[in-house]
This record gives sequence, structure tokens and C-alpha cells, in this order.
Amino acid sequence: MVHILRTPTYRDQTGVNAPRDFGDYRTTTLRHPKQPLLLLPQRLTEITGPVLGEGRVSAADADLTVVNGGEAQGQRIIVHGRVLDSDGRAVPNTLVEVWQANAGGRYRHAGDNWPAPLDPHFDGVGRVLTDTHGNYSFTTIKPGAYPWGNHHNAWRPAHIHFSLFGRAFTQRLVTQMYFPDDPMFFQDPIYNSAPEDSRARMVSTFDYAATQDNWALGFRFDIVLRGRNATPFEGEDHDD
Ligand SMILES: [Fe+2]
Repeated sequence: MVHILRTPTYRDQTGVNAPRDFGDYRTTTLRHPKQPLLLLPQRLTEITGPVLGEGRVSAADADLTVVNGGEAQGQRIIVHGRVLDSDGRAVPNTLVEVWQANAGGRYRHAGDNWPAPLDPHFDGVGRVLTDTHGNYSFTTIKPGAYPWGNHHNAWRPAHIHFSLFGRAFTQRLVTQMYFPDDPMFFQDPIYNSAPEDSRARMVSTFDYAATQDNWALGFRFDIVLRGRNATPFEGEDHDD
């Protein structure tokens, strides 16, 4: 059998991602890179080198709703989709990591102390590997909205943070998944920092086919790594 190694092609990213310095999102001014970005080359080493230890990911890591022997509070949901590269090919066996606030909009994090309750049965972190067709699925609860200090009465729309490694570290993507028709999009500078015609690619769709009777609602979120149809990504660490 002949194996042909095909490296993903990188198309022009112009117009896909948020600018690194976006005035309405105040902290970007403080932490965006001041020097021109360097393009990491993608050679054989980057493609064939190990990305993670796949044996470290267990099936239980894909279910965020059972922690410390109890069930998380909130609306149970199934979030699933496909991971594709810039040429539309499925990305198999890639690590998808998620983190999110609980149903009340609170993170289990030392820096989050606004007056919403923590849930003893929800940590808000999960991970899953895509299958051979690039599919992933995890079970969680719908996160709540939460306030933050960007501007007066600023609220983040409900969202789930995603990190993907792709086929190599040079493809790593960090983004946020939103829920359809969220009424708080209009005042959220993180969502609105992405170019208008790419924002929809950060919004999941309600998926009735994935909804499980008497159990959970389904949402679909397909992710494209790099290229013109890429999911808008974050170039810096985002805590918000
Ligand atoms: Fe967040």
C-alpha cells in the first residue's frame, strides 16, 4: 500500500479573523503583538511529529455533566460536528478541548468571583478526539451568560471555548462557539471583532436530529482549520 502525505494548503486568511487590536475589546490594546507575525513553516517534521498522547484521552472526558458522582445543574446538551482542514478534508484523531462557564455563568477559576453559584458537579472542562471521519461529540450543559468589565453592563453571550490542534501544532486554533439567536451579540466586542461575514461560522445550529428524546438538546458546530472558510480564531490567550 502506498501512503501519500498531503500537507494542508494555506489560503489567504484576510477577512476571516478579528484584528489583533480591536478598540471596543479593551484588553486587546494591552496584549496584542507589537511586531509583525511570523509564519511558521509547515514541513515534514511538523506534519509527522507527535501532537499529543492519544492514550491519555478517555471516553469520560467527553461528558462534562457527571462530576464527583453527581449530575451538573442546567440544560443538558450534545455538541457535535466535524473538523475539516482548509481543503475540506476531514481531520481525524485530532484533539478537541473545551472549557466553559456553568449554567449560572460562573467559571471554576480563582479569577472568577462574581456572585453566581459554583456547581459542585460541574468543572467546565472536557476533551475528545475526532474519529476517522473528523467527527467529534461531547455532552455538557448550556453555559450561562456572565458579566465582565469591558464596558458598563457588559455581558458575554453564552459560549463554549474550543482549542484544536489539527494535524500539527502549526494548525492550532482557539475559538469560541456561540448559540443561535443570542440576544447579547449586539453588545459583545469579542463576537463583533470578527469580520461580519465570518461571525456566523462561530455560531452553532440547533440540531433536532442530534437531540435525544427525554435526554438532551443537540447543537452542531463544524470547524474549519485555516483557509477562506476557516472558523475565526483567537491569536492570543483569551480568558473571557
Ligand atoms: Fe468565556
